[in-house]
Amino acid sequence: MLAHKKLWSILSLMIILSLALVACGGPGTPTAEEPAAGEETGGEEPAGEEDQVVITVAAGAVGKELEIAKAEAERYMEEHPNVKVELLETPDYVQDRLGVLLQYFEAESPDLDVAQVDVIWPGDLAQHLVDLNEYGAEEYTDKHFEAIVENNTVDGRLVAMPWFIDAGMLYYRTDLLEKYGYSGPPRTWEELTEMAETIQAGEREEGNQDFWGFVWQGDEYEGLTCDALEWQFSNSGHNFVSMDREVMVTDPDTIEIFELAASWVGSISPPGVTGMGEEGAREVWQAGNAAFHRNWPYVYSLSQGEDSEVAGKFDVSPLPAGRNGRSAATLGGWQLAVSKYSDNPEIAADVAFFLTGEEEQKIRAIEMGNNPTIKSLYEDEEVLEASPFMGKLYDVFVNAVPRPSTQTAPKYNEVSTAYFTAIHSILTGEKDALTAMEECEVEMENIISTLE
Ligand code: GLC
Repeated sequence: MLAHKKLWSILSLMIILSLALVACGGPGTPTAEEPAAGEETGGEEPAGEEDQVVITVAAGAVGKELEIAKAEAERYMEEHPNVKVELLETPDYVQDRLGVLLQYFEAESPDLDVAQVDVIWPGDLAQHLVDLNEYGAEEYTDKHFEAIVENNTVDGRLVAMPWFIDAGMLYYRTDLLEKYGYSGPPRTWEELTEMAETIQAGEREEGNQDFWGFVWQGDEYEGLTCDALEWQFSNSGHNFVSMDREVMVTDPDTIEIFELAASWVGSISPPGVTGMGEEGAREVWQAGNAAFHRNWPYVYSLSQGEDSEVAGKFDVSPLPAGRNGRSAATLGGWQLAVSKYSDNPEIAADVAFFLTGEEEQKIRAIEMGNNPTIKSLYEDEEVLEASPFMGKLYDVFVNAVPRPSTQTAPKYNEVSTAYFTAIHSILTGEKDALTAMEECEVEMENIISTLE
């Protein structure tokens, strides 16, 4: 965590410096006064670099994300030779990504046109984003899941186009389940704990000392909020903040499941799990060193890849249920938004509509296992063949539990930070579960009391 924090503070500094450079008239997009090369030659030549409008898209780089986004940008540019789509790589961790975007937004910088925004951000970022309905979004929104369109609508303004949905799922090793005599994946957290202990002990006895039962996201960041909400909701049946902003984090069922999660650290999960994000946990899983793995859909196609030790040896299921027999998957996912400070919002919106359109979502679903936000693609045979879990776990996706970002906007990030910081302190043994969550409750209530 520390290393990536340092890296991103250096990168942040570089971004600030480059913003300052542009503000001082340094290299950047040509200004209106500068004649474009095409005009000088009579405008008959094919569009040269100088004629092009540059649209900068801040995109994610988890797994194959950046590579796929580059290919998508190429396809847009082929159809629109007057536009140059440039990708700005952003950090993997959600809070770090938010920090990068906020630097552009707070500087009201025109150097960022399109931003990939998390499903939890529309409320927190709405003030910096254009209303896409003003650029013709209505033409496309009908095709998408209503719940996501609603999530992205703030005070009647559509601030982001849905791009892909995420939901937490359980990856498990089919070969090892068979080897140890289990007929299917665990249905409860207790079952998972026992099965993980047995398989881990067996694999170590056979010589793989690096083998672990269960890997997940335990670092102190948004990913932990996602995992913890799944534990909490499945055991207690409620979110950490209700729709009417009641904080609910100290009831016995919630405390019990956080204690169970803490007991995994160093037993069925590596001690280092408290420093793992999506990619760190995936590494252990994909190297063949874990029986169970909690992650998002993007891991599916990577796990089937040529360099994966688990290719052909795994399947996915809903996450285990808690004491109420309920399984919960946190709703995640990403959207594309247009910055209010863009010099070319209309073209930027067009890029966002293209990237989130049916054809591009289909390619993503097939090549990267990203769940579409366009309903009809769940019936597309090619999609279902490449990513069978999309059909198999369809109910998991449509019933995924949203984080309380709408009711706590624009302070969701603060509320979530209080939540994952407290849970991290339980996982590392720094605090007992009840003390940590009682303190967390006070902190969250204070943040919420400042909301309008
Ligand atoms: C995934 C989800 C996103 C979530 C993040 C947490 O990227 O799509 O919604 O906030 O993971 O790490």
